[in-house]
Amino acid sequence: MRGFQPLWAEINMKKLEKNFNILKELLHAGCQIMPVLKSDAYGNGAVPIAKFLAQKGIKKFAVNDVEEALELRNAGITEDILVLGSIFPDYLEAVLKNHLTVMIGSFSQAKSLKSMLAKVKGKLKVHVRVDVANSGLGIPPHKVNSLIVFLKNIDQIEVEGIFTHLYAAYSPEEEQLNKEVEEFKNVLKQLVYPIPIVHAVSSAAFFKCPEMHYRYARIGTSLYGYLAYENQQELGFQPIMELKSRIVDIVECNGSRINKYDSINVGEETTRVAVVPIGYKHSLIFTNLKKGYFLVGNQLVPILGTPCMNHTIIDISQVPSAQIGEEVTIMGGNGKGQIKAETLAAQLNLSVVHHVVLSMLNNNVPRKYIY
Ligand SMILES: Cc1ncc(COP(=O)(O)O)c(C=O)c1O
Repeated sequence: MRGFQPLWAEINMKKLEKNFNILKELLHAGCQIMPVLKSDAYGNGAVPIAKFLAQKGIKKFAVNDVEEALELRNAGITEDILVLGSIFPDYLEAVLKNHLTVMIGSFSQAKSLKSMLAKVKGKLKVHVRVDVANSGLGIPPHKVNSLIVFLKNIDQIEVEGIFTHLYAAYSPEEEQLNKEVEEFKNVLKQLVYPIPIVHAVSSAAFFKCPEMHYRYARIGTSLYGYLAYENQQELGFQPIMELKSRIVDIVECNGSRINKYDSINVGEETTRVAVVPIGYKHSLIFTNLKKGYFLVGNQLVPILGTPCMNHTIIDISQVPSAQIGEEVTIMGGNGKGQIKAETLAAQLNLSVVHHVVLSMLNNNVPRKYIY
């Protein structure tokens, strides 16, 4: 990372380790964590996160697509990688060459992979995804066995795993969650062939349904320190990412002078404003950041107007000590002076919280790792 960045994300690996250890304590016997590294590990940087967790004993990672998996392989990650999303059949050679495991959730996928496999050498490991939530992702429970029979008849395919995603775990609807759980248990009971690896839980279901831990728990949110379940708060998870910038300019003002910043309403009580060099260049979501707050020191200060491409103006009238170069926290901090990803999401009017905030940060935001 170069020295003078307008905005950077600080990723604290000590906090990652702490979150990982909390999860490990709660794992059922025989279950291991499969970290979910999709969307660049939710914006935290898939390669450094994978390297760090591989050293802590992780044996299997999950990503969304082949490109994400190849990024890990090219960086020297040799552990198993499961691609959770459907793959384009023309990626098959890369999949085989890089020993990736892929998800199959439909007959059309299975058939197109079968015809591609006929043209190449190698054995393909697959995990069958069962759709217990009518989500459209995965094979419906009543078709699971016929898909497995179809796959078992393809010499080049090894059905290594079967899994589901319990969507209802993210909502308060207990009844629906029980239905999804029972549905998956029934599928397992009625399998025509035994399948060695079973997995079902992501962060929310991990806490709500410990009996569903099986062989792997696919965890993203909690590992990165965010809450997927209300009672998770007391367990001590901490967000591993903080978003930071620095004041690049300060204007001592009276109302009229500052009007040049278009649409900014400066009241008489505003005597000092600061320029923070971040804007929608770093993430389109910042265009929504109106009436929000940043932290200067431990103090919450209001944003004035709307961030533009490269700048956001904040009111620092209440922080007379603030100087050019002073650190500004966009997300992070502790205790009272804290802006959580959830708070930032609310300021941005986002209905889906941390996932969006984290994964929307683009490559204009350098990541800095603290070990
Ligand atoms: C299939 C699947 N499993 C696991 C996860 C991880 O979920 P969480 O971040 O809630 O732990 C995801 C996340 O999108 C997913 O799509």
